[in-house]
Amino acid sequence: DRQASFGPNIFVDSQWQPFRAQVDSYLQHTWSANPIVNGQQIDKTVAQQLTAHTVVAPWDHEVVAGEVVYADAQLASQAIEAAIAGQSQWQQVPVAERSAILKRIADLYEQNYCQLVAMCHKEAGKTLQDSIDEIREAVDFCRYYANEAERLSQQTHTFTDIAGNEVTQKRTARGTVVCISPWNFPLAIYTGQIVGALAAGNTVVAKPAEQTSLIAYFGAQLMYQAGVPEYALQFVTGAGEVGATLTSSPLIDGVVFTGSTQTAQHINKSLYSAERVVQAGSEQNTAKELPILIAETGGQNAMIVDSTALPEQVVKDAVLSAFGSAGQRCSACRVLCLQQDIADSVIELLKGNMAELVVGNPSNVTTDVGPVIDKDAQKGLRAHIEAMRNDSRARIIAQTPISSESANNLSNSTFVLPTAIEVDGIDVIGGEHFGPILHILRYEASKLDELIEEINATGYGLTLGIHSRIETVADHIESRTKVGNTYINRNQIGAVVGEQPFGGCGLSGTGPKAGGPRYVARLMKWQNV
Ligand code: NAD
Ligand code: ALA
Repeated sequence: DRQASFGPNIFVDSQWQPFRAQVDSYLQHTWSANPIVNGQQIDKTVAQQLTAHTVVAPWDHEVVAGEVVYADAQLASQAIEAAIAGQSQWQQVPVAERSAILKRIADLYEQNYCQLVAMCHKEAGKTLQDSIDEIREAVDFCRYYANEAERLSQQTHTFTDIAGNEVTQKRTARGTVVCISPWNFPLAIYTGQIVGALAAGNTVVAKPAEQTSLIAYFGAQLMYQAGVPEYALQFVTGAGEVGATLTSSPLIDGVVFTGSTQTAQHINKSLYSAERVVQAGSEQNTAKELPILIAETGGQNAMIVDSTALPEQVVKDAVLSAFGSAGQRCSACRVLCLQQDIADSVIELLKGNMAELVVGNPSNVTTDVGPVIDKDAQKGLRAHIEAMRNDSRARIIAQTPISSESANNLSNSTFVLPTAIEVDGIDVIGGEHFGPILHILRYEASKLDELIEEINATGYGLTLGIHSRIETVADHIESRTKVGNTYINRNQIGAVVGEQPFGGCGLSGTGPKAGGPRYVARLMKWQNV
């Protein structure tokens, strides 16, 4: 099961031109999505009270991607009941069979590659290359977690007690898990959550982000086609309120969430409300044990560069980490920390590099930075840039203009110009700004430990980049920073499933790291026989 993430690059190899033609033809399509409960498609003909929402392409709002019918609270509750009713049946499916089903999802994703790439591109506004990487990552999650299910099922412990009784400790499913995913990895994270939970023997109620339900719906269809029983996967569309209905249900056994830290904190509060904790601990306990929460959230990710680093490499890695995927990766570099001695020369190179970025329509293969997801995101990011412009502790030092083609359509799109802002402290930045904005902070070599403290003081702990040619310096920084994933002398994005388990600590997440050996295990529990 070779990692699909290293597949061919369609743009350099002419034999892939037919693939491009197929993607282009799918881009002419529009799609629809609606909730699926117990295999029933709940569209407007079935439930007239539900509302339908139009989805448009982020780079041109005249281009319609499709329409999504949102579930309401009643349907969300029905979905939970259906998943709970099917749980013991799914758990009884032999692990080899479950695993084979998950691998068939990977095969079907590969067979439907062109349509999935087109959907990801049109609905999420990702560049074609990012869309390709997205589908590959989803494929990797399916195969990796399928293998994990088999590995973990073989992990038992046996004991003999003093009376000669044999004791076997084995893993079993937790029950029914709600999976809530973000729009920035609309297929990969969505799929990873679902197949991770299914691999462990749980039934799933999945709610994708409202911005990217079309690709999620198609993904769910492929999962059913691969053999996931209708009772094992319930598909619920809708915005945050529907998500909150699902996660506040007292009947569920766990929540797998990826999204903002703020939403994770809401979910955490409702999952572990005083009322629920008391119920779970009471003698007349009708409630279940406390559910688990896996939350993967935001970051204020820094890259620390000392004076021995290779400036060209630093700039290449910082630009990719900050502006790749329009900065809409949780792992993205938000603060480039430059040792004073080399700051001017690195900033000069950075400006040159940023001037070369192509910002505009993500359908052009030459585009480096496409639009952000929607008007709300655009408004928030632009407001931050303006706030920094008016802050005496911040200075805008570079901004890449938009390509002339896309400049004609600014009111109907959601572009944010890649912007570099020098700041006097990390506190000036505020929280996470989820887009193509890179902050730059200078530090004196003698104040490295203070810088590390400042980074730790944000409370986030997702990714960290280090650029240094002195191993002891890199070790010094790495061992003092509280982050989930540290990258040395390279970029800090694009963790590979099965090779670079990914996830943060502190405000950035609970672990147990997606694409790693502890993820499916966390969705199981131990049982002694
Ligand atoms: P978000 O928190 O706004 O939404 C995420 C999901 O939660 C959506 O499906 C949304 O409908 C749902 N939701 C919103 N309010 C809810 C509530 N009260 N109860 C239950 N569900 C609710 O996040 P977003 O804007 O979609 O995604 C961007 C964020 O995700 C960024 O902060 C980014 O850093 C983070 N992210 C983290 C990782 C990671 O692995 N750590 C990966 C990708 C994205
Ligand atoms: N796993 C994704 C990355 O590393 C979020 O960029």
